Amino acid sequence: MPNAPDLEKLKSVLDGIATRYAGEAERGDVADYIPELADVSLNHFGIAVAPLQGAPLLAGDAEVAFSIQSISKVFGLTVALERVGATLWRRVGREPSGDPFNSIVQLESERGKPRNPFINPGAIVVADVILGNAKPGDPEEPVLDLCRYLAEDPSITVDEAVFQSEVATGHRNRALAYFMQAEGNLEGEVPEVVKSYFRQCSIAMSCRQLAMAGRFLAAGGQGAAADHAAVTPERARRINALMMTCGCYDASGEVAFRIGLPCKSGVGGGILAIAPGIAAIAAWCPGLDDKGNSRLALAAIEELSREMGWSVF
Ligand code: DON
Repeated sequence: MPNAPDLEKLKSVLDGIATRYAGEAERGDVADYIPELADVSLNHFGIAVAPLQGAPLLAGDAEVAFSIQSISKVFGLTVALERVGATLWRRVGREPSGDPFNSIVQLESERGKPRNPFINPGAIVVADVILGNAKPGDPEEPVLDLCRYLAEDPSITVDEAVFQSEVATGHRNRALAYFMQAEGNLEGEVPEVVKSYFRQCSIAMSCRQLAMAGRFLAAGGQGAAADHAAVTPERARRINALMMTCGCYDASGEVAFRIGLPCKSGVGGGILAIAPGIAAIAAWCPGLDDKGNSRLALAAIEELSREMGWSVF
């Protein structure tokens, strides 16, 4: 049920969070396995909330672009579902993994079928599906194209330095892809498929842009973005369910317990959260906890959800 938030209260909660978190000492550590991400200052903190209608509300560094990393898996999944519909689920599962995002352990015992589309092997299969089902006239970078459309901002780009850094160091992702190829669950060539996966991870967006891009999920696939063929109510419902159960890797249960909203995190320190029927939220601070989720972004969304009464439970 659409539910317009009290904007005055929301603004004051966001300002309070941004002021307190600017001075927070315990910020976690930046991801350093992708060298380019290690250079980002821990001091950043930004948050944006995009209600179903009207302009987003911003606080802190909400206009500073950061690497969306695994949050791109939400938009990749949206494109793949548009291209192949429910047949996607023959190649990717829908269960939480309980393992780190780049783990290969389950992939071996489960014969190359990733548990869900939000762990790395799942997103690599999704990238393969997107590449293998392109039609003439489709955009060259469909995930980037969808982000631009949803955020209503054609200026969004791939951060080429982050992309090069991922190509240079992404051996584990290539290993996951080769393993799936050996099991018959990859149609394209590994270098091409992982390149496409690395490019979507390297999309740079601000909290404002990300909250706008996530708004179709809060709107249940209706509203302004519904003109796009990829956006449907059923798809939005399914993606929200997967974000709730699998969006923060082996911390997904803890995040559902603490926050009670569908969330998707990335090692760039961003988190996209959805308050269904109300708003999309994007928070960013580059410092991560031991599961790879942004420490302060999670804490901020927890506080916001509590203050505004947005938990779905
Ligand atoms: O493939 C990787 O390792 C990164 N491009 C993305 C990982 C990521 O964001 C996982 N997130 N928490």
